[in-house]
Amino acid sequence: MDKNFYITTPIYYPSAKPHMGHAYSSIIADFFARFKRINGYKVFFLTGTDEHGQKIQRAAESQNLKPKVFCDLISKNFQNLSKTLNLTNDDFIRTTEKRHFKAVNSLWKKLEENDEIYLSKYSGWYSVSDEAFYSDDEIEIVNNIKLSKSSGSKVEWVEEESYFFRLSKWQNKLLDFYNENPNFILPESRRNEVLSFVKSGLKDLSISRKSLKWGIKVPSNENHTIYVWLDALTNYLSALNYPDTSNNLYKKFWPASLHLIGKDILRFHAIFWPAFLLAANIKPPKKVYGHGWILSGEEKMSKSKGNILDPMDIIKEYGLDPLRYYLIKEVSFGNDGNISRDQLVKCINSDLANNYGNLCQRVISFLDKNLKLEVPNKYNLTIEDNNILNNFKENYNNLLNEIDNQNINYYINFIVNQLFSANKYFNDQEPWNKKDDLERLNTILYVSLELIRKISVLLYPIIPDTSLKVLSIFDINETDLSYESILNNDFLKPKAKLKKIGILFKKIEKND
Ligand code: ME8
Ligand code: MG
Repeated sequence: MDKNFYITTPIYYPSAKPHMGHAYSSIIADFFARFKRINGYKVFFLTGTDEHGQKIQRAAESQNLKPKVFCDLISKNFQNLSKTLNLTNDDFIRTTEKRHFKAVNSLWKKLEENDEIYLSKYSGWYSVSDEAFYSDDEIEIVNNIKLSKSSGSKVEWVEEESYFFRLSKWQNKLLDFYNENPNFILPESRRNEVLSFVKSGLKDLSISRKSLKWGIKVPSNENHTIYVWLDALTNYLSALNYPDTSNNLYKKFWPASLHLIGKDILRFHAIFWPAFLLAANIKPPKKVYGHGWILSGEEKMSKSKGNILDPMDIIKEYGLDPLRYYLIKEVSFGNDGNISRDQLVKCINSDLANNYGNLCQRVISFLDKNLKLEVPNKYNLTIEDNNILNNFKENYNNLLNEIDNQNINYYINFIVNQLFSANKYFNDQEPWNKKDDLERLNTILYVSLELIRKISVLLYPIIPDTSLKVLSIFDINETDLSYESILNNDFLKPKAKLKKIGILFKKIEKND
């Protein structure tokens, strides 16, 4: 069994500081990375910044800075965000790094060698904001301005000598590839979008610009700069030391297990990228998942629209784990989702403070008052005790499968249900009325502690700090954390002294 897992986020444009959409993709990727790690996988988790091209060149010019100086500044913000979000990324790649130049050069030469590239002339629409070419029928005119129908960004007319990639030649081979790999593009709706686009006919793709200065030069022709998307996509290989394909990283982790992206950049990842790779005799990635958009009102939250919610502000105000939890739970994965402060506060209060926080608090303080904070003996498990504990065993494989299909919604719903059941169990069992029946009292407490432990293991990929804080009372730390341990119903050793726990989540009072 392949126990290696390579997951990537898009590499973000450091054209302005990061926003909630970037935080969202990164947090979701971190969720998968952490989940796989506690399942015994060797994980390589990559994120980074996409620093070349016209978009960045113009952003730098507008600040009167040299592009590299500008990128150093803004990329730093993305690197800091990774730390603030508690991401477990193994690497952070910048496309202005030497290792990346090497990889892009190599890939280009390989494509040239394979006769996949020719010189000709491009004329058509280009959006600098999307760094994308659009055909006539993908353009609309609004208030006399020509815009891309899909992204709403401005397009300009481009006409110049350009190198082309023989994309048209790959049309049928791509369709075969999608057929043979039905899970290559997820979710289903995105797959259908891509299929119909490819079936409608692929034109050769312009992959160099003469007028663009900021980027990687075409190896055989210094007058041309490589198209920023061919440059950017290659980052997934550069981080594994491509073109050295005999090194350990490459051998272990290519092809990538999962490119996690937003649906805005589906075409690049699901069409161009596998075509480039097939044309260079490199295996395409196993899966591309295009998630939905975080909306602000009805619109996509984006730097260019200026309607952004700053993740740093939210974290300062409410803490990181609440934000992670909220984004993972309330934005139904795969779909677009509106987010707001009000919803965030509701979610913190109901799920985190009242449900998880409360469960931990009341069980531990009851144990402290009545059983010297020691793990009690479990004596006789009733059918009901067994049922609630075995829920985890029964759903063990389900959860694994659902996560392998990126069904995060299923996973988090399971957790929420278990939290409700555990709270209900503690209430219904009324341990406070069982002081005359120590055996039963002990058993109820034992079961409750096991439930807290299991639920905390499941929460680890979502709210790692809080989960580890709770697990630390049982002396369980990150290095010995395993998903498998939720199968166990008697993990806790009787008489073991537990640690006290502070308040996990403060309820947020509305003060308006
Ligand atoms: O496209 N909702 O960079 P980018 C959800 N450099 N996710 C969002 C989002 C939103 N409102 N806004 C952005 C690029 N994202 C290229 C990628 S990859 C080889 C090159 C997330 O800075 C989402 O993952 O525009 C989206 O695909 C990505 O940020 C785009 O970031
Ligand atoms: Mg964008």
